Amino acid sequence: MEERLQKILARAGFASRRGAEQLMLDGRVTLNGETVKELGTKADLATDDVRVDGVRVKAPKGLVYLALNKPRGVVSTRSDPERRQTVMDLVPGIAGLFPVGRLDVTTEGLILLTNDGAFAERVAHPRYEVPRVYHAKVHGVPDADALERLRRGVRVDGDFMAVDRARVVEADNNAWVELTLHEGKQHEVKRLLEAVGHPVSKLRRVAIGPVTSRGLEPGEFRALTPEEIEGLRRAHPADARSIRKVAPRPRARKRPRHEPASSRPPARPSSRPPGSSEPRQRPRPGEREVSARPSGARRQRPALPRRRRG
Ligand code: URA
Repeated sequence: MEERLQKILARAGFASRRGAEQLMLDGRVTLNGETVKELGTKADLATDDVRVDGVRVKAPKGLVYLALNKPRGVVSTRSDPERRQTVMDLVPGIAGLFPVGRLDVTTEGLILLTNDGAFAERVAHPRYEVPRVYHAKVHGVPDADALERLRRGVRVDGDFMAVDRARVVEADNNAWVELTLHEGKQHEVKRLLEAVGHPVSKLRRVAIGPVTSRGLEPGEFRALTPEEIEGLRRAHPADARSIRKVAPRPRARKRPRHEPASSRPPARPSSRPPGSSEPRQRPRPGEREVSARPSGARRQRPALPRRRRG
């Protein structure tokens, strides 16, 4: 079947769709021996010879979607010039697999890997507003004012950044804060929290859209369920969403503006066992679940065995 070259390249794992367009514009793609820079060009991998930098593009054998709980200290790139451990060392060596987006080397938590470039583009691009949920351990305890500043947004080094949701989930002398964002600027969470006076000492990503890291120890991975893949694929561009906003769905509970989420309930000391620094991932009674599977979605047995490496 004929398809646009950039779609073929993205699906074969060479780059995201946008990256594939750049490969074409850079003159690195050939179709039956001729360089193609025309972005609308179509080809059929069953009959055409498509190459990137001379490497033949083959139809992907199967699309793979993994969720990995990246440990602290592991880099989230495909390779590392400093030869540090990368996320690729923790998952099976599947051709064309690459991480979707980035986590700082000091950040732990959920990262997706796939060989489906079009899917990766959808999940990573801020336009589709896929929410990411982070748990950050911060110095001090942010008050309602600080949380409201995060929601309204702050400008840091010329970048305007804001969160969709912010709440304190545990507090003692310091606190664990849960932030939901949909953008993905570099070091966004750390910069935001530092800007409101609460530098981050630990950071963990616990959810991307409907996918959570629940049940995955650092270094473990699993295959995404079909429901999770579909849930991420169904993400709509922000502009389409603003059209739907004309008739908003009723919200479960409307909170008055002056009552930030953080003000209920008052911060409580940790109920974790002494010595543990993990925040709970389940909400307390009366708190709302942060990120749930799409309704009706069931956890499925992963297609790949859960495995722990190195
Ligand atoms: N924000 C950060 O500051 N770091 C990450 O790794 C991800 C989001």
